[in-house]
Amino acid sequence: MDNYLEINQKLWDAKVDVHVASDFYQNESFLKGRNTLNEIELGLLGDVKGLSVLHLQCHFGQDTISLSRMGAKTLGVDLSPKAIEKAREFAKATNTDAQFLWSDVYKAPEHVDGKFDMVFTTYGTIGWLPDLDKWARVISCMLKPGGKLVFAEFHPVVWMFDTDFNYVQYNYFQDEAIVETAEGTYTDGGNHLIDKEVSWNHSLGEVFQALKHNNLQVTDFKEYDYSPYNCFKNMEEFEKGKFRLKKFDKKLPLVYSILAEKI
Ligand SMILES: C[S@@+](CC[C@H](N)C(=O)[O-])C[C@H]1O[C@@H](n2cnc3c(N)ncnc32)[C@H](O)[C@@H]1O
Repeated sequence: MDNYLEINQKLWDAKVDVHVASDFYQNESFLKGRNTLNEIELGLLGDVKGLSVLHLQCHFGQDTISLSRMGAKTLGVDLSPKAIEKAREFAKATNTDAQFLWSDVYKAPEHVDGKFDMVFTTYGTIGWLPDLDKWARVISCMLKPGGKLVFAEFHPVVWMFDTDFNYVQYNYFQDEAIVETAEGTYTDGGNHLIDKEVSWNHSLGEVFQALKHNNLQVTDFKEYDYSPYNCFKNMEEFEKGKFRLKKFDKKLPLVYSILAEKI
């Protein structure tokens, strides 16, 4: 899939305006000061005041700016120029000093000077990257010794299912790229969006091996039977900000989180 970056950039550019306007992202309350981070990652972050934080795959910057509001010095990186343009607009509107860079994750080290205290990347990120060893190498190279990776992601078990969660469509160990035409997006609105996308399913073993090979020592790992986002079909909110698939209730893991340290 030599042209996956071009395909996915177009896909994500097209989503930005829909996402910004969506109830899902509640951008108005965010602009007024709402912190968009969830309990899961907040529990791993600790006090970020004064820390330099690199946010990989920042989309249009809500979480990056939330980290800035918490006192971190942030740089958000994303493949979508449209998302970066919006993120810069929102940094200005919120009077924060969050910086943004348009780049493929793999190319970030070519454009960024210096090392960070923390790399932050969450929910819907590694599935757009073909090679996790390369991903972990970038993280390791961008962190100071003792620096931390804060990572939360949808569980690979989720990506085995068809979009209606009716049957197992993909292998847990899925090496090849999944090339599909996606209709709509995970937020409200956007029914008109029909775009090709290229993604990969990465098993938990692949994630752990990639971190280990790149001097990132896992210090915390958790799996969750809920998602902080209502982003799949037919979910119900069983507690404020916690969603499960109606059909499976607590039977499936939906999210996992990892805290790792650069050694
Ligand atoms: C699901 S979103 C990010 C999730 C974030 N939790 C959010 O909701 O704001 C995925 C982001 O990854 C970005 N992306 C996809 N492939 C990328 C790549 N190769 N390098 C950098 N960013 C990429 C997309 O442009 C998109 O903004």
